Amino acid sequence: MATRRCLPARRPALFLRIGLLQRYGTVNGAANSPLEQIMSPSLFSRFSLRDLTLSNRIVVSPMCQYSAVDGCATDWHTIHWGQLLQSGAGMFTIEATAVSAIGRITLGCLGLYDDACERAIANRLAIARANAPSMPVALQLAHSGRKGSSRVPWEGGQLIPAGHGGWVPIAPSPIAQLDHEPPPKSIDTEMLSQINREFVDAAVRADRVGINALEIHMAHGYLLHEFLSPLSNRRNDDYGGPFENRIRFPLELFTAVRKHWPEWKPLGARISATDWIDGGWTIDDAIAFVQRLKRLGCDWVDVSSGGISPAQKIPLGPGYQVPLARAIRTATSMPTMSVGLITDPGQADAIIKSHEADLVALARAMLWNPRWPWHAAAALGAQIHAPKQYWRSAPRDAPNVIADAKVGQR
Ligand SMILES: Cc1cc2nc3c(=O)[nH]c(=O)nc-3n(C[C@H](O)[C@H](O)[C@H](O)COP(=O)(O)O)c2cc1C
Repeated sequence: MATRRCLPARRPALFLRIGLLQRYGTVNGAANSPLEQIMSPSLFSRFSLRDLTLSNRIVVSPMCQYSAVDGCATDWHTIHWGQLLQSGAGMFTIEATAVSAIGRITLGCLGLYDDACERAIANRLAIARANAPSMPVALQLAHSGRKGSSRVPWEGGQLIPAGHGGWVPIAPSPIAQLDHEPPPKSIDTEMLSQINREFVDAAVRADRVGINALEIHMAHGYLLHEFLSPLSNRRNDDYGGPFENRIRFPLELFTAVRKHWPEWKPLGARISATDWIDGGWTIDDAIAFVQRLKRLGCDWVDVSSGGISPAQKIPLGPGYQVPLARAIRTATSMPTMSVGLITDPGQADAIIKSHEADLVALARAMLWNPRWPWHAAAALGAQIHAPKQYWRSAPRDAPNVIADAKVGQR
């Protein structure tokens, strides 16, 4: 990783490229050499995070499924994970997974806070993995904070009051997400230690069930973002007030998880790079925060935005968060994932080729078309790995899109 960061972020001079090609081979497709991946990356070049190598730069973004029961994965997860593990992406990320029952957003959210949750993920992931080509699996560890105790989206997504089947959500300060809601319970220092332990315990469970990479959810107005943003954090102790205080708990938590997560496995964070509100968390804050995460051994930052308040004004449009990823990557040299309305293979390839981000994460486009990476590979002249049962599916105009495919008959 250190070598990657030291190299210049521009294409090498022609003579150097020729030298590299002579030494390492092709510049196209998934078989790129390590040096070519650094010097002229593309959507279908490999990328390494610690000991983990992704076969391409496409990451399936974490997506809540609201289909767990008591935090436990269900048949839905077996099918959903199975289909996305067949997608040909470089890495699949399991949805926001709560570190405690009250850290869930809804009653249907996935958890990793007891033995039953752990067994459910282990068993269902084993089935999904056994029926797909090998793909690294990341899991997003999360705590909902004041956005907890919500109805699932298809039931309106509003707060379920305690006493009506919900719970009293917790937050750095007793400020409600919406003005008409009762305030959440303020977190005291004992609860801070408990939440810290819950993240560590869940990380240990995630390692046991064979998760390859962990992403800590610090975005979208959930608990850790609530500590970072001056709009939701009005504490007057060591964990609130100035920037250094507001980043303290997320950094302490990151340090604790890094200590208990295997050294060879990557650990990243999803952040909101801006609140999109005057007086809120800004891109400059995000850059300073990522610099601190980097020093603590963070392997990538997944750059999203918003979520702290409905007052946000988000300039939605294709790739609207790419400039945020680029700003962070340029200022910090942190391996950076860009997400948000990346839907077209050429667009995704251009983001990687122009060094705006190292990885792209796709969410809705992957639900719409779970074989998006197959189609992207066909469009860009690259290759993906597919289950052998589907090897005969390669279209006429891209007959070699499936790597290692063999079709024989008598
Ligand atoms: C159904 C659904 C569930 C989501 N759940 C999560 C989640 O669990 N964690 C998270 O950080 N973001 C979540 N998101 C946000 C996506 O990961 C992604 O950042 C966002 O949808 C923008 O990317 P897109 O334009 O490719 O969809 C979710 C989005 C969707 C559509």
